Amino acid sequence: MGWYGDHIVPRLVNKTCGIALLEPLRDRVCAGLRGRVLEVGFGSGLNVPFYPRTVDDVAAVEPSDLGWKLATDRLADTSVPVVRSGLDGQSLPFPDNSFDSAVSTWTMCTIPDVETALREVRRVLAPGGTLHFVEHGLAPDTKVQRWQHRFEPVQKAVAGGCHLTRDIPSLLDSAGFELRDLDVFYQDGTPRIMGALSLGVAVR
Ligand SMILES: C[S@@+](CC[C@H](N)C(=O)[O-])C[C@H]1O[C@@H](n2cnc3c(N)ncnc32)[C@H](O)[C@@H]1O
Repeated sequence: MGWYGDHIVPRLVNKTCGIALLEPLRDRVCAGLRGRVLEVGFGSGLNVPFYPRTVDDVAAVEPSDLGWKLATDRLADTSVPVVRSGLDGQSLPFPDNSFDSAVSTWTMCTIPDVETALREVRRVLAPGGTLHFVEHGLAPDTKVQRWQHRFEPVQKAVAGGCHLTRDIPSLLDSAGFELRDLDVFYQDGTPRIMGALSLGVAVR
């Protein structure tokens, strides 16, 4: 990733993704998690305060050492056992059917081969297991989409490989998930090119 990716991006993500505006969304996404949980793209643990009591433990997958370090205080404040168990969502070090639920928040934009990562998440979920997600991606309006395509190279360079134009519902569908409770909307207070969100549950 280089120095900028290793030392600046994780701090940038901790600040920009840590704003209070996003907390109600984290709360909504985490609400249905239960049992053994996989979190892909754990970052600095911004979802930790929102894990419900139905969560037994969490396997965190996160490549950034600094992201994991920035999670220290949140991990100290939770009673949920969280173990950093992997570094790459594209190749998960777990047997098939290992988890009851999984969570991904603002991560599918960044994983380089997101198709492979989603197939991996599906593989390690037990049958009927659920992936709870909120992700930004391709906007529903063509005018916004045009701006997303124009701005994407800048976004990728500045934000650690973050794409603006990924069609999240269709990626989940192609990976074999059944979509449930899908909500597609623009996040208030965020430029539309970055604030076109898909929030929902995908069932294995
Ligand atoms: C925009 S951040 C979101 C972080 C966190 N999910 C949140 O909601 O604050 C994207 C995260 O994906 C992680 N990431 C990048 N490549 C990844 C990969 N191959 N596997 C798993 N996570 C990855 C980044 O390190 C970063 O923590």
